[in-house]
Amino acid sequence: MIQPHGGKLIKRIADNEERDFILSLNLKRIYIEKDEALDAEKIAIGSFSPLEGFMDREDLKSVCSHLSLKNGIVWSIPILLQIDDPSHLKIGEKVLLVDKTDNNPVAVMDISDIYKLNKKEIANTVFGTLDENHPGVKRLFSKGDYSIGGKIKLLNRPSFPNKEYELDPEETREIFRERGWKTVVAFQTRNAPHRAHEYLHRLGMEIAEGLFIHPIIGLKKEGDFDSSVILKAYQILINSYYPHRKVLLAGLSTSMRYAGPREAVFHAIVRKNYGCTHFMVGRDHAGVGDYYDPFAAHKIFDEIPDIGIKIVKFYNVFHCDRCGGIVSENTCSHPEEMITKISMTKIRKALSEGKRPPSTMLREEVADFLIENFNLVTEDYR
Ligand code: ADX
Repeated sequence: MIQPHGGKLIKRIADNEERDFILSLNLKRIYIEKDEALDAEKIAIGSFSPLEGFMDREDLKSVCSHLSLKNGIVWSIPILLQIDDPSHLKIGEKVLLVDKTDNNPVAVMDISDIYKLNKKEIANTVFGTLDENHPGVKRLFSKGDYSIGGKIKLLNRPSFPNKEYELDPEETREIFRERGWKTVVAFQTRNAPHRAHEYLHRLGMEIAEGLFIHPIIGLKKEGDFDSSVILKAYQILINSYYPHRKVLLAGLSTSMRYAGPREAVFHAIVRKNYGCTHFMVGRDHAGVGDYYDPFAAHKIFDEIPDIGIKIVKFYNVFHCDRCGGIVSENTCSHPEEMITKISMTKIRKALSEGKRPPSTMLREEVADFLIENFNLVTEDYR
């Protein structure tokens, strides 16, 4: 059963009075990194609902082994606050979480657990590899060996580039309501749009009343597109080709985890919180290198109960000369020599060699913009 507009949102935001009071308490400070500050914000505004804080060991264990929180609710990605040395902290203590990049006291936390992490086990279950070349594994291993769990409350929003393009779940739900969209399909991306993405968008607009394009603008790996380039490229595509009344574009400042199938589940739950009723999962969703089977992110949804958002699966999308357009392996079976595979890896390679990607892969208007801004389109990871 699909819950329109995502069901109940759990929010954890202090009002001004509470914030001033907490800040006057002179609490112990824990300096956190930008991705954790952004995660704290996402917990607080309901993007990560039903989470109310950073995970304790029981939730972590359950997420790793059962794809659910300890209360049985499906959840696939650990949301951790990793620290190096917990010796100065105790359970039951209230601490301030301060963004170390700008000294901003982002949140207050009630510590309910302090525990040592088995990083190898986490890497193996969440990312399916111990290879430190995997950007998610690299980040996990580079952070502290301990984790602190506990509920948080947001005191101040973290700063981050392009935040003006973000909307809170409460805001997108309101926009969907105002526009009268009873069905909204969400599209996750970490890239500027190519023609295979466009194919998915168009099918999305056919099956639902609204399309919510929600690119990740948080931390990504070296070599991914700069978020401002993604947002601008999308504005160009939407203005040139899409019916405005059917589309909403907003950024999502959380980090990419590159956890393939597990991240697809996480992405879907998050978009449900933003009020979407459908979520698109294509080929190698949230994948990197060759770590995942390209359709593992489809199969994982067969292993979990209904999460309250309908998963719309897409197979390989490509251009076929014979068909004369963008098609998919479900709709075309012409031989390989007639096919142009579409991937951002190929597009970036062409751009890096000073070549214009063909219009069978990339819209001319988007290509013009990417060529002009190539300084922000860095080399691919592979
Ligand atoms: S992702 O890391 O956010 O998944 P990307 O921005 O490339 O990467 O993809 C956005 C969505 O489009 C994902 O659901 C992905 O599976 C899908 N997708 C991208 N390229 C293709 C393609 N050629 N065929 C089918 N689906 C695709």
